Amino acid sequence: MLETPQAAHAAEYIQDDLAHLMHPLYHPTDHQHPRIWVKGEGALLTDMEGYTFIDGLSGLWNVHIGHGRRELAEAAMHQMSTLAYASAYTGSTNLRTIELANRLSQLTYPSINTFFFTSGGAESTESSFKTARYYWKLRGKPDKVKFISRIHGYHGVTMAAGSATGIAGYWAMFEPRVPHFSHIESPYPYRFTGGDEHTSPGVAAANLLEAAILHEGADTVAGFIAEPIQGAGGVIVPQPDYFTRIREICDQYDVLLIADEVITGFGRTGRWFGLEHFGIEPDIMQFAKGITSGYVPLGGIGVSDTIRETLYNTPASSKYMHAYTYSGHPTTCAVALANLDVITQEGLVERAAEVGAYLQQQLQSLYEIEHVGDVRGIGMIAGVEIVANRETKAQFAPASGFTKHLARELLERGLFTRIVRDIICIAPPLVTTHAQIDQIVAIIRAAVPAAVAATHA
Ligand SMILES: Cc1ncc(COP(=O)(O)O)c(C=O)c1O
Repeated sequence: MLETPQAAHAAEYIQDDLAHLMHPLYHPTDHQHPRIWVKGEGALLTDMEGYTFIDGLSGLWNVHIGHGRRELAEAAMHQMSTLAYASAYTGSTNLRTIELANRLSQLTYPSINTFFFTSGGAESTESSFKTARYYWKLRGKPDKVKFISRIHGYHGVTMAAGSATGIAGYWAMFEPRVPHFSHIESPYPYRFTGGDEHTSPGVAAANLLEAAILHEGADTVAGFIAEPIQGAGGVIVPQPDYFTRIREICDQYDVLLIADEVITGFGRTGRWFGLEHFGIEPDIMQFAKGITSGYVPLGGIGVSDTIRETLYNTPASSKYMHAYTYSGHPTTCAVALANLDVITQEGLVERAAEVGAYLQQQLQSLYEIEHVGDVRGIGMIAGVEIVANRETKAQFAPASGFTKHLARELLERGLFTRIVRDIICIAPPLVTTHAQIDQIVAIIRAAVPAAVAATHA
């Protein structure tokens, strides 16, 4: 790597970072050569040493409209200089949060028209769980307190959200988990082996929910939480009939369906929201990330008209004692409104469908490479699963160092993204160009054999 004056300067910053910062998923040995990001423009990120990379994951699946949009900066500046913050606790409200809730009622599922705002994904998960329990208590079913989620599901890592998250690596050093959470297998078309001549794999995978509800006792289960397309667990697109059966099961056993649309919301999949692909509606939906394209932290939940009806027709003595200081923050809501303007005015949802189809099609060409086991995705979200053996679908042994080689080979060629269980996750900004998509695919095509060679060297 070139020794530039900025590189020397970067070294000083890294020393200070190592001295004073703890990062998400942190271990200092993984952090000796962090990139110091200093600039973003469209789908590109530039580090302090002057190197430019394609932002293959839109930050953390959130920078939908791309980096460097002045409209959002101006919306924040205008709102901050007028009214940066005011409490939105009951009895207070503000113009931007009213406007945003109103806008969301038009954009989200027809039956979802009432919203509660948070600062991000995990707070939204907590809010969904608490709202579900609250609802069942109001409905005279106080024993309905349990939640079922899926292995490979990701819902954040606060205590309750982390207990719903189905990735054991996040649990190990923080056990015990919160009680009343259990997991079923994911639909995962590449690896799910259920189903027979009478039952499709999608229905078989959904039936696991029925079995889990019966095992727990339907009178004790409050909700089932699922991402329409699993993201952080390795980009898993369910079979087309999976969610229809899930909806049926939830209805049959009085279990609330909570759609975690934190990644799939606001156009990522080529539709405004992920469950639109499957023709069903949730009882509670949660969102974050793309609502502001990550420019400021904001999340929230939306509840169905049925839930709202129960919540609003309760005596004041059992009011909704759930709250965050930043719920309904005027500035974050102003930025969300400006972001939704950009998405709408520039037709980015339609663009995600169109350019996303190109992305998916180009990625299919990667099957030419020996170790590419599965390529999957929808719109502007995709996963390329690399395996040691295509026949057996066996993964590279963790001790082989393959994952680290793969990350380095991608980065050296100019693609910055995340790898989960050797699945290269791809979710670039919705404004990514065709030429940049070609570049992403070319980089993966070259990086995978190079990583395999480095592993065997
Ligand atoms: C589907 C989903 N839900 C929840 C979260 C948690 O969001 P946060 O990191 O803002 O707490 C994430 C984060 O990646 C997510 O992908």
